[in-house]
Amino acid sequence: MKIAVIGSGYVGLVSGICFAEIGFEVSCIDVDANKINLLNQGSIPIYEPGLKALLARAVKNKKISFTTNLSEGLSKSAIILIAVGTPQNENNGNIDLSYIYSAAKDIALNISDQECHKIIVTKSTVTVGTGQQIKRIIKEVNPSAKFSVVSNPEFLREGSAIEDFMNPDRIVVGTEDIIAKEAMTMLYSSFLAKQIPVIFTDIATAELIKYAANSFLATKVAFINEMADLCEKINGNIKDLSLATGLDSRIGSKFLNPGPGFGGSCFPKDILALSHIAKENNSQLAIVDAVISSNNNRKTRMAEKIVSVCEGSVTDKTITILGLAFKANTDDIRYSPAIVIAKELLKKGAKLRLYDQEAVANTKKELGENSQISYFSDPYEAAQSSHALIIATEWKEFHNLDLKVLKNNLSDPLIVDLRNMLNPEKVRSLGFRYFFIGGK
Ligand code: UDX
Repeated sequence: MKIAVIGSGYVGLVSGICFAEIGFEVSCIDVDANKINLLNQGSIPIYEPGLKALLARAVKNKKISFTTNLSEGLSKSAIILIAVGTPQNENNGNIDLSYIYSAAKDIALNISDQECHKIIVTKSTVTVGTGQQIKRIIKEVNPSAKFSVVSNPEFLREGSAIEDFMNPDRIVVGTEDIIAKEAMTMLYSSFLAKQIPVIFTDIATAELIKYAANSFLATKVAFINEMADLCEKINGNIKDLSLATGLDSRIGSKFLNPGPGFGGSCFPKDILALSHIAKENNSQLAIVDAVISSNNNRKTRMAEKIVSVCEGSVTDKTITILGLAFKANTDDIRYSPAIVIAKELLKKGAKLRLYDQEAVANTKKELGENSQISYFSDPYEAAQSSHALIIATEWKEFHNLDLKVLKNNLSDPLIVDLRNMLNPEKVRSLGFRYFFIGGK
């Protein structure tokens, strides 16, 4: 069976390549000719472990093709996945659905009367009611088109996207007719065979599930971050609190790691959108609103924490930040706490030495290059002559930093570990002043 995927961003590319790996014939369509050229040469425009090898296999098996030509890409595809971007309006949480609606219009213009029933599936995260809008647009543009609309939100995480796609906890499918349900059952038959739960529901509920799931996870993170603050006040220990709380199977141990606040392209955007959806429907989501403000404040408070351990001022001091991505295993810096902290420290007059194994190029675009900022490809070089070293992203390599070399390189042996990666006793025994999250 042939499927088409419109949009070759994170969700579109991973879905397309993984469906090709499963055995479907996949046609990936994007308006960006540079991106399509890159993909046709076997390069991946994003950083995602394992994706390049999977793409090479799909190309070798002739299971995947890339094109900017929509009618060519859609031709003979029974299932069309829409995976275009849904950027956020930063002020009110509303999301911009123009790419989704223009994809719907383009699909409508390319379905001919002779073609079979098309299943049009939204993979992008979209607000409640979008599925119905897509249906209305297609009917308006092409009244004789035979089609069904489906909501099938994607839950993959950056950095572990392939594993998340291939072995999801569940698959959510919102449909309103039997033809769509049967087509989606066929699309996910290999997952059903592995006993992966597929939840069939209505379209609006499927759209809301994505926001509810991400917002609940974000709430867990914000909650544990506030508990960490309380632990610091009572001389407690967040590690033990997190472990003991998470071992209650009703709570679960995942997403209970305290840190500098959640970031990325999804949590901050999705939780704001959920709050917006509630307001539009005259429903109150007090918890969600509290999480938004808790997380926003947290990032700036982390900068204040750094200033306070630097004897109250960072003006003209040099600070090293290890880790710039919003989390490990990605080059993505969108809403990254590390970037917010860097901006705050720059405002307060600090000079920054920045290191990240993947995210330096993106950070250069965001923060620029000037006399206040230098970038490094080695963490020890980044630490040279700095007054403090901050760990802001939980890259695995930071677990094994050579502390003796760091101590030699830093002008002041001060470490602020915002991801609780180092062993406090070990670090302090080497003579460092060491601060972490949620304990003394
Ligand atoms: C998230 C969802 O997990 C995924 O299902 C959805 O499809 C997209 O959004 P992602 O943005 O890739 O995925 O990152 P995730 O691993 O969920 O982390 C989100 C943020 O929470 C990061 O900033 C991370 O550092 C933070 N986090 C996560 C914590 O601070 N502590 C934790 O215990 C877990």
